[in-house]
Amino acid sequence: MTLSGKKALVTGAAGGIGQAIVKALTDAGAAIAATDFQLEDIPCNAAIPGDLTDPAHCDALPAKASEALGGLDIVINNAGIIRRGVITDSTDDDYIQSMAVNVEAPFRICRAAIPILAASGGGAIVNVSSCWGVRPGPNHPLYCMSKAALASMTQCLGHDHAHQGIRVNAVCPNEVDTPMLRSGFGARGIDPETAIDNLNQSVPLGHIAQPEEIADVVLFLASDQSRYMCGALLEVNGGKPVI
Ligand SMILES: NC(=O)c1ccc[n+]([C@@H]2O[C@H](COP(=O)([O-])OP(=O)(O)OC[C@H]3O[C@@H](n4cnc5c(N)ncnc54)[C@H](O)[C@@H]3O)[C@@H](O)[C@H]2O)c1
Repeated sequence: MTLSGKKALVTGAAGGIGQAIVKALTDAGAAIAATDFQLEDIPCNAAIPGDLTDPAHCDALPAKASEALGGLDIVINNAGIIRRGVITDSTDDDYIQSMAVNVEAPFRICRAAIPILAASGGGAIVNVSSCWGVRPGPNHPLYCMSKAALASMTQCLGHDHAHQGIRVNAVCPNEVDTPMLRSGFGARGIDPETAIDNLNQSVPLGHIAQPEEIADVVLFLASDQSRYMCGALLEVNGGKPVI
């Protein structure tokens, strides 16, 4: 798969999956505009730091990326947060932050990016949702509902903008070995290594995903190898269903 000459914006570029996406797209030949809170250690062509809960930052990102790279072909909405607990344990802030990062930011970025992609004949948007956005797991209603909204947005935009040559698809991972996953164990006082060993045994392929195993599917959806796919939600789960 080649992305030679392509220009890509990646959100959450400093995170576990985000760093792997930046590397996979860079190795395939793309130029990268990366965004996250801090980007000092992230190798990219343009660093655009900022907070995705700031509407003005999201609205401006695609144009800034296009300006910095000399065009824009690919947008990866990867950043996300997980707020844990049942609804009766969820605060207003949990709701506001979950919706701001997981739903409103991709909404604003897609809305601003589509005219830019369309003006150059099309492009690809890849959203990182979750298997819990397709089939909700227990005790995380805010995460599940926000990822379901992102999955639905993907399906809507996938058909609404195909006529402009813009393909919108989503990756829906199950557990991935990243800071997001490990922080949850730490918060519950569980040793992350032991927890991950146990989780590995629950996956038919024998291990939870490494970030690179998600990034390779993102690369596929960003590339012409997936040129007839629009609005797809690809579950990437090593054979482990949500129960
Ligand atoms: N790790 C998993 O098990 C798993 C499973 C399914 C889906 N996902 C999804 O994959 C994506 C990447 O997650 P990850 O596991 O790499 O998590 P991560 O926590 O390692 O990375 C997320 C990145 O998003 C950035 N971010 C969060 N809020 C932000 C904000 N307001 N402004 C700017 N940047 C912000 C963080 O700084 C971080 O670098 C997320 O959308 C997540 O929901 C992860």
